[in-house]
Amino acid sequence: MKVVGGSASLPLARALARELGVPLVDVSFEKHPGGFPDGERYVRLQDSVAGEHAILVQTTHPDSMVVECLLLADAIRDAGARRLTAIIPYFGYGRQDKRFADGEAVSAKTLAKHIALDADDLLTMTIHNPDVLALFPIRAREVSGIPAIGRYLKAAGVDLVLAPDDNAVRLAKEAAAIAGTPYDYLDKERLDSYTVRVTPKELKVQGKSVAIVDDVISTGGTIATAAKELKSQGATRVLAACVHGLFVGRAEDTLQSCDEVVATAPVVSAHTKVTVAPELARAVRELTG
Ligand code: R5P
Repeated sequence: MKVVGGSASLPLARALARELGVPLVDVSFEKHPGGFPDGERYVRLQDSVAGEHAILVQTTHPDSMVVECLLLADAIRDAGARRLTAIIPYFGYGRQDKRFADGEAVSAKTLAKHIALDADDLLTMTIHNPDVLALFPIRAREVSGIPAIGRYLKAAGVDLVLAPDDNAVRLAKEAAAIAGTPYDYLDKERLDSYTVRVTPKELKVQGKSVAIVDDVISTGGTIATAAKELKSQGATRVLAACVHGLFVGRAEDTLQSCDEVVATAPVVSAHTKVTVAPELARAVRELTG
């Protein structure tokens, strides 16, 4: 077995290879110093993967990393790997998981179809909607990133875990069980790409330290709205925790209402404080029996 890391996921690929005790394949991402000036991606495997079970680790965000993922998968196949497991730590495009209106692309399906051209099986981490796994024409499994967050929250001594919307309830429940706290949730309505509204609800948070747990923080709007609600009801400390921290646009400003922001490793940012390599290594071992 050998691990190949795309440039979106190199630290995680390196950590995974270490956990598994297998080599990390050296990959170059530039044909010439400076790469393609027009921004096109380039990959070259520097080590052999012939006859190997190759584990490709690459988050599909931002868009250029989708292209790189497909290039790497194709190169691995051309180089004679006997099996290719794609680990997509953050499955970008996973939120367009159905046709909400006639004529729309089901983006999650589009990506699934193309990744499956070369991959034999797939692992992804805390996906927005687990039903997306059924869109893959290959064996696809979700690995939870929440245990890592739960351990962080336990060490941080939070009193309550809050899901900012009903989609995150399963995550809050799992995190709370590990942190040893109760959990609660809010009802969220999305008004536009940046704005959400939560239904007013009494939360027993007076004088408490509360963690809001979500799969993704993108603009930060969801978390900031929930954080304001918590502070207005007397929470003394609000910690925002997500598996995938995208932090787009003015997210850092938007998240000022939180006392701390924590993200795990699938998308690398200044808030990446928690590794998920042990969770992924366990899933790879289960795959290979
Ligand atoms: C949507 O339901 C997701 O679980 C997240 O709540 C959402 O993607 C967060 O986006 P933003 O940070 O832009 O509010």
